[in-house]
Amino acid sequence: MKLDIRGVKEHMNNDFITNFQYFDSVTSTNELALNVDSDKALEGLVIIGGEQTKGRGRLQRNWHSPKGLGLWFSIILKPKKDFDRIPLLTLIGALSVHKAIENIGINTDLKWPNDILYNNKKVCGILSQFRSSGNKIKQVVVGIGINVNQNKFPEDLKGTSTSLRIIKGSEIKRENLLADILDHFSNYYQIYKSGNYNQIIDRWKSKMSMLNQKITVKTSTGKKIKGKVVDISNKGQLILELPDNSHRKFIAGDVSIDKNSITF
Ligand code: BTN
Repeated sequence: MKLDIRGVKEHMNNDFITNFQYFDSVTSTNELALNVDSDKALEGLVIIGGEQTKGRGRLQRNWHSPKGLGLWFSIILKPKKDFDRIPLLTLIGALSVHKAIENIGINTDLKWPNDILYNNKKVCGILSQFRSSGNKIKQVVVGIGINVNQNKFPEDLKGTSTSLRIIKGSEIKRENLLADILDHFSNYYQIYKSGNYNQIIDRWKSKMSMLNQKITVKTSTGKKIKGKVVDISNKGQLILELPDNSHRKFIAGDVSIDKNSITF
């Protein structure tokens, strides 16, 4: 079924997100959003695809985005902050989705930095990308993919992905869910703009099962680092306590995460 943007607007209650562009079929909403001319791009513009033919995940992975079943969208932002605060926008994206899913009665787990899981299976992934000019951020695109109404997945995703419909046992109204997510996003973005980062981090930590767990981080050179997850910094970095009790921070950048192990 085609997403009804009027229905989304009717259920929304914020002044920040008011503009939508909907396409039945797109390559990738992130690609489109990144290509919107920065000088014309409105902050808070949401680009939605009915399907994505080249949905992107992190580390050049594909993101399966079948027609009419999920929510595949990108939010354009123009934050007046330093580059090192960009990872927080991924975190607020995840928090907004997490809260809206909680409101339909499903408790999910946040997995740093960009995943929402249910019983270790992926329900939502977030890919934030940005364009800059010199040392200025031109636009940040927070791309969100949510498995909503699929009742089955391709063979290669069966073991690792699930949908809200499969979890709940009934179809979910995507318009209401999107409206709720965007209301939460708008609230969290105000908090982000006010610089009250701890409020974002505290909520994240309360919903993240990785906290206090021992994990292995794999760097791009193949080095494995074992440690206990002790914190998230107010720039969105993961903080590990190493066996010698020292602390080490990891940035999300190009991180891929498997169960209990992180690859840089
Ligand atoms: C990941 O888990 O690796 C991130 C997946 C992000 C998918 C979303 S769907 C909407 C937006 N457009 C894209 O091409 N990707 C993001």
